[in-house]
Amino acid sequence: MYLEAMAKIFPSPESFREQPSQVPLTWTCRDNPLQKIIDVDDLTEIFDGVIYQRDSVRMVTDGDSVNPARYCAPSGVNTFTGAVLPRSVSRMLNEKASLVINHLERYWTPLRTYLRRLTYEVGSNIESVGFLTPPGSTGFRPHEDPVDVLVYQVSGRKHWKVYEPLVENPFLDEVIEDEKLAEYVAEREPFLEVTLGPGDCLWVPRGWVHAGTSDDAACSWHVSLVFGTSTFRWLAEEIIGTLTKQDEVPYFRPSLPWGAAIDRDLMHTTVLSALNRMRDGLLDLNVGQVVKNAQTKLRAEMPGPRYPVAPAEIGPETYLELIPESVMSFSHQHDGSLRLNLPHATVTLTNKLVDFFLPIFTGKELDRGWIPTDLVPRVTLSSSIKVARRMHQLGIAQVGK
Ligand SMILES: [Fe+2]
Repeated sequence: MYLEAMAKIFPSPESFREQPSQVPLTWTCRDNPLQKIIDVDDLTEIFDGVIYQRDSVRMVTDGDSVNPARYCAPSGVNTFTGAVLPRSVSRMLNEKASLVINHLERYWTPLRTYLRRLTYEVGSNIESVGFLTPPGSTGFRPHEDPVDVLVYQVSGRKHWKVYEPLVENPFLDEVIEDEKLAEYVAEREPFLEVTLGPGDCLWVPRGWVHAGTSDDAACSWHVSLVFGTSTFRWLAEEIIGTLTKQDEVPYFRPSLPWGAAIDRDLMHTTVLSALNRMRDGLLDLNVGQVVKNAQTKLRAEMPGPRYPVAPAEIGPETYLELIPESVMSFSHQHDGSLRLNLPHATVTLTNKLVDFFLPIFTGKELDRGWIPTDLVPRVTLSSSIKVARRMHQLGIAQVGK
């Protein structure tokens, strides 16, 4: 797979994808590619869309969340009830509060387009959070995140200290109190200390304790890319879930005996019986079903292709662009056709068209543009238009400009 989006921000995309670093790392991205996608100057326009989504906005001063009443319209006073007030946010930024925008990609199409591609290449969901920190301010106290995070400094400068994890690979529901973390960092030297400038990245693996302070010269604008983390605990729960729902294996249908709630020995025997049933059930487990269930759930979190709302007028000369990230995987069929596995559907590409589209899907051919006529004589002209319409309808291709 051609790792186009990863190559923009990771120095060795293939090896990082294979084995994400388990320790913090820093590097510099030449030409600051994310600035071209989401610059601090874009914030005014982004904020125009965010103001009706107050749950996505947070203001923080020295690690404490500011009461939203200080920067949101009071309820029931006007039609924009509860809306975030940009003037109040601006005033609070002048008072050294930091602005945090969760799910930043929801409010900025270029970032959403980029993350859709990055998610496809990484094979796991990625969300983004924007942090605007006034000069000389600290947004959050030392904390750890239960997910891998890539801190990308778009503009301004921020000084970071990163400490070894207090808890290795923390679960999402495993929260460590601020006081305990403050004590922990006070007792040791940071593993890494770095000042990030425009285009610099800091990789913070899951669980590593970190805190950042902007420098005194200018506002710091950084975007954190949050990499979705699924654990073996989650997968074990999925396996148990599939096991207990296997209808053809009735190990779990019998009722528990009366009295199990109050008779300890009876409950003990019942638990042992359940374990035996589980062991037998695991031997008969439909592994393919577990794989399917787990992938369906994980894929549901990932952004799907951008489906067209209205059908497009597509003729023999309509210029289309293939969207490789709309196809999650391929299966080559015995008859030479190619099955395209979309997030929510499967579609088969006839063997006559595989040699045309496969190089574009796999990134061997970087020019993604084509017109239906290009498919002739592999297929007839009318078939080529049908194929184009179908691919457009499924979000595999878009009408180009
Ligand atoms: Fe963090």
